[in-house]
Amino acid sequence: MNVLIISPGYPADMPEFTRGLAESGATVFGVGDQGTAALPGLVRSQLADYVQVRSLWDTPAVIKQLHDRLRGSTLDRIECLWEPGIMLAAELRQHFGVPGLSIEQAHRFRDKEAMKVALDNAGIRTPRHAAVDSSAACWEAAEEIGFPVILKPIAGAGSADTYRIESRDDLRAVLPRLQHVPTISVEEFVDGEEYTFDTITVGGRVAYYNVAWYRPRPLVARSNEWISPQVVALRDVDAAYLQEGVKMGHDVIAALGFDAGFTHMEWYRKQDGEVVFGEIGARPPGAHQVDQMKYACDFDVFRTWGQAVTTGEIDAKVERHFNVATIYKRARGVGRIARYEGVDALQKRYGQHVVWNTLLPPGIPRRDWRKTLVSDGFVMLRHPDLAETLEMADAVGSELQIFAE
Ligand SMILES: Nc1ncnc2c1ncn2[C@@H]1O[C@H](COP(=O)(O)OP(=O)(O)OP(=O)(O)O)[C@@H](O)[C@H]1O
Ligand SMILES: [Mg+2]
Repeated sequence: MNVLIISPGYPADMPEFTRGLAESGATVFGVGDQGTAALPGLVRSQLADYVQVRSLWDTPAVIKQLHDRLRGSTLDRIECLWEPGIMLAAELRQHFGVPGLSIEQAHRFRDKEAMKVALDNAGIRTPRHAAVDSSAACWEAAEEIGFPVILKPIAGAGSADTYRIESRDDLRAVLPRLQHVPTISVEEFVDGEEYTFDTITVGGRVAYYNVAWYRPRPLVARSNEWISPQVVALRDVDAAYLQEGVKMGHDVIAALGFDAGFTHMEWYRKQDGEVVFGEIGARPPGAHQVDQMKYACDFDVFRTWGQAVTTGEIDAKVERHFNVATIYKRARGVGRIARYEGVDALQKRYGQHVVWNTLLPPGIPRRDWRKTLVSDGFVMLRHPDLAETLEMADAVGSELQIFAE
């Protein structure tokens, strides 16, 4: 089986996914804009061949270069786990006659309006919504939906250009800042807790899923620098309060006709228990949330995904042993990481539960917290009991401080 993976070296967990494909028995080809020398060693060791293109966003040029290089060999699957490349993968599939998500299907995972229309038609509860491309239409939609509303780009990511609008005054103030966004999605603001529903799907059937809880909601975390955002992969996914969300997740996969691979859905649960769809991507979540799945169940998620897309069967017997919390830290101050506070005491109390620590060492310039959820590094920890997990996560959030100078 020949599998082409788009951008095998970037972002950070693509090398592991490339390994997962190779270990499930596929011959793996890569295409990307990184130079071969810049590819992580793990990727180079797993690829049968790599085509470096000048730009991944020039589809005809990518097709031509692939043709030239692949002459003779056929492709059985084309995979992309990176949001910006989802449409390219679909275009390549169409061109090379490879099964998987079609252009039309992929569009429904990329365009937040098309996505919600498809789900409305399947009877799934989405936020009331409209897509608008002028200020006048935006006013009309906001009045019709009713304040508060959310404004966001129709193909956004990372909460960029996303605003909660409480009133007409807010709308008046924010509209000028959205001039550069061609189409805006206006949505009913849904108040509640926010969760994920992440799957490895095989032949249209959800073979594995993960539910994670965002603490606090991403828009709040991305608007307040002092917060240490948490993502908590939950052990007890059978808990009653999650059941409607999990059912919605299964219904969404079916409604969008997703066949095989990773998906990442976000959903809201209101205080009265009502469950509302948020968004879905035809890819795994970022910020090392796939590693959380690995630590929650002690299984090779990457190889399981590889099996799902190549053999159509997964052999892992997944058992959930742990809740896994990731706490993303943001330094205070500007410049380079200078010192830490609280690490030793936390290490002594909770060190045995920490599975991964990527906090930047002193001397490294601090990162732009608005551009990366990972910020200045994270602590990942796990515990079988949720209350204990949250207590540790909150302690890391409040007692561990990083200072930059
Ligand atoms: N209708 C809504 N009601 C309440 N909050 C919302 C709504 N739409 C978006 N948000 C908030 O804004 C955040 C970002 O929105 P959304 O997930 O749609 O965009 P995104 O930029 O693709 O996100 P990301 O890439 O960070 O997952 C959500 O996680 C949520 O906190
Ligand atoms: Mg989102």
